[in-house]
Amino acid sequence: MEKLKICIMGLGNIGLSVAVYTRRYFPSTSGYDINEQAVAKALNNGIKASTFPERADVYVVCVNTYYRNGTPDMTAIDSCCRMISALNSEALVCFESTLAVGTARKMALKYGLRYVAVCPHRWWEEDQQNHGVRQLRVLGAFDEEGMQKAEKFYNKLKIPLHQVSSLEVAEATKIAENAHRYVEIAFVEELKLIAYKNGLDFDEWREAINTKWNVNLLEARDGIGKECLPKDTAFLASLSTEAELLRGAIKTNENYIQHFSKQSKPYYEQPSLLHLTKKHSPQR
Ligand SMILES: NC(=O)c1ccc[n+]([C@@H]2O[C@H](COP(=O)([O-])OP(=O)(O)OC[C@H]3O[C@@H](n4cnc5c(N)ncnc54)[C@H](O)[C@@H]3O)[C@@H](O)[C@H]2O)c1
Repeated sequence: MEKLKICIMGLGNIGLSVAVYTRRYFPSTSGYDINEQAVAKALNNGIKASTFPERADVYVVCVNTYYRNGTPDMTAIDSCCRMISALNSEALVCFESTLAVGTARKMALKYGLRYVAVCPHRWWEEDQQNHGVRQLRVLGAFDEEGMQKAEKFYNKLKIPLHQVSSLEVAEATKIAENAHRYVEIAFVEELKLIAYKNGLDFDEWREAINTKWNVNLLEARDGIGKECLPKDTAFLASLSTEAELLRGAIKTNENYIQHFSKQSKPYYEQPSLLHLTKKHSPQR
C-alpha cells in the first residue's frame, strides 16, 4: 500500500498540511494547485507539486468551496473531478473539502468516479497537534467497496474514523458541527445586543448566567468572521425552507457586527444573504 501514488488537490492551509502528513506514510505523494505560489510553498516543504495533477491511485481533494450569490459554489470541486476522471476514474477519490450535501454523489455520477469517499476536516490552525490532520474524523462512502478502500487508506494514515452509512451523512455532519458553533456564538451576540438596549452590563450578566451548572456561554467577540462557520451555516440553512433558527442566527451575527464592530465586514455581503432568505423563505 505504501507504493500507492497519492495526489493532493489544492495546497492551501488544509491541502499542504495533508500533503506533508501523507508523505510520511506514502512517499509517492504529489500535490496539485492552480496557484503558482501555493505550488512554490509546497515545493519548499518538500512536496513534489505542480500546476497539473499527476495520475494517481488516490486523490485527496482539498480545494476551496464557497457560498456565493445565495448558493453553494462547488466549481473547484467540479474542475478537480473532471481532471480525475480523465486521469484515472478507478482511483479512490477522498473529498476533504467542506461540501454542500449531495456534492460527492453528484460528482461520482457525473464523472463516473468509481470509488468515492467523504472525510471532512476538523482542522484547527491554533492546535495542529491535537486538531490537525490526524484526529477523529467522520467517513462516508459511495458504496461498500469505496468504504473498504477509504478505510484502508485512512488506517494506513493512522487517522481514527467514525464511519457513517452515506456520503450525505458525512457531508451534513461537517456543516452541522460548524453551524452548531455558529448558533452558540450568535446566542451570546444576541444577549449582548439585548444587554446594550436594556442598559445591562453584559459581562456581569454572562458571568452570572454561567454560574448555572449546565450553562457555558461563549464569549461575544468581534462577530463571526473568517470563512468556515458562516459558509457551513449557510450550506446547512440552504437545505431547508424551515431553518429559521439558522437564518435568525445569521441575521443576529450581521446585526451584531454592524452594531459593535463597524470596522470589520461580515464574511457575506448583505445582499447575498438576503437573497438566500428571500429565495428560500416560504410565502406568508
Ligand atoms: N482552513 C480550515 O480551518 C478548514 C477546516 C475544515 C475544513 N476546511 C475546508 O477545506 C477546504 C480548503 O480550505 P483551505 O483553508 O485549505 O483553503 P485555502 O484557500 O487555504 O486553500 C485552497 C487551495 O485550493 C486551491 N484551488 C482552488 N481551486 C482549485 C482548483 N480548481 N484546482 C486546484 N487547486 C485549486 C487554491 O489555489 C488554494 O491554494 C475548504 O472547503 C474549507 O472549507 C477548512
